[in-house]
Amino acid sequence: MQHASWFSEQLVNWYRQHGRKTLPWQVGKTPYKTWLSEVMLQQTQVATVIPYFERFLARYPDVQSLAAAPIDEVLHLWTGLGYYARARNLHNAAKKIVNDFGGEFPTAFADVLALPGVGRSTAGAVLSLSLGQHYPILDGNCKRVLARFAAVAGWPGEKAIEQQLWQLAEQVTPRETVAEFNQAMMDLGASLCSRSKPRCAECPLKLHCKAALTGDQTSFPGKKPKKVLPEKHSFWLLLRYQDQVYLLQRPAMGLWGGLFGFLEFTNASEREQYVLMHKLVSKQQQDLPAFRHTFSHFHLWIQPRLLDLNAQPLLVQEQSVASWFTISAMPEVGLSAPAKLLLEQLAAASID
Ligand code: ADE
Ligand code: SF4
Repeated sequence: MQHASWFSEQLVNWYRQHGRKTLPWQVGKTPYKTWLSEVMLQQTQVATVIPYFERFLARYPDVQSLAAAPIDEVLHLWTGLGYYARARNLHNAAKKIVNDFGGEFPTAFADVLALPGVGRSTAGAVLSLSLGQHYPILDGNCKRVLARFAAVAGWPGEKAIEQQLWQLAEQVTPRETVAEFNQAMMDLGASLCSRSKPRCAECPLKLHCKAALTGDQTSFPGKKPKKVLPEKHSFWLLLRYQDQVYLLQRPAMGLWGGLFGFLEFTNASEREQYVLMHKLVSKQQQDLPAFRHTFSHFHLWIQPRLLDLNAQPLLVQEQSVASWFTISAMPEVGLSAPAKLLLEQLAAASID
């Protein structure tokens, strides 16, 4: 890395003028407070974290009180912050600190790294911010700053790219003023070097920032490659009799667990057989336009067929709850998103 010492000097000077220094976990710093705040900040923004941090610290002023608390109370205080595994890890880590370190927050990197919920960057942040130990950090904000500055292409979720960014972080992290420097990296990434509209004109790094020099800021860091999802098909049967439709509840486990939807088949001929077997007589049948619903792991093409029945059949579902629902009064049950969409179309009489 060229300009490593220039980088850190520029950044620390900038931090002294513009950085955040009075956040609740920055005044009277201790490893415990820094750890607590870093875990809260892992997936949550500063403004959201502040009141939670203050409530936590008031209730659990030290590791011992956190370790002794019932987990339900900890989870209750965490409510609204999300990613609850963090709260469980925090609690387990506190117990570990009491058991293994007599309640004193460990100050050796390997010991901090071994705490539940603490990765390399969080361990580095705790020890550098609270004790000035010489460790680099690499959270999302730092990754963006470094990837732009050195024009590191590729998605940081890939091991090789992440390694490269860690190497850069090691090179730019100064021996002295490491606490200020690391906080500066996070602050720059959270302010000037934002994801979509970086304000490079104000940035202390602009003279040697490769992305800024080429006007290519938003190409870095590289995006996660879009995976090609497999396509599956589902054949739905919308039974309508006058102003009612037939809906059934899906099994609790699996897709749309517990939600209501239309009759569903894996292919068109099974659907046809169902119609024949139940002697469903319709005055009108129509195939509605197929549409796609995307799950995390596949696309589902839904092919709905609407049958307007001559009479209301008595259908028996062996495994599930099913019922006729009045279309105009949107059923007060949980509906899968595509079922809701179709019902809305039926209700709007855009299909008749
Ligand atoms: N995100 C993670 N750690 C942070 C910190 N110490 N300050 C601001 N944002 C952060
Ligand atoms: Fe980010 Fe722009 Fe600064 Fe480069 S010059 S680090 S892109 S804000």
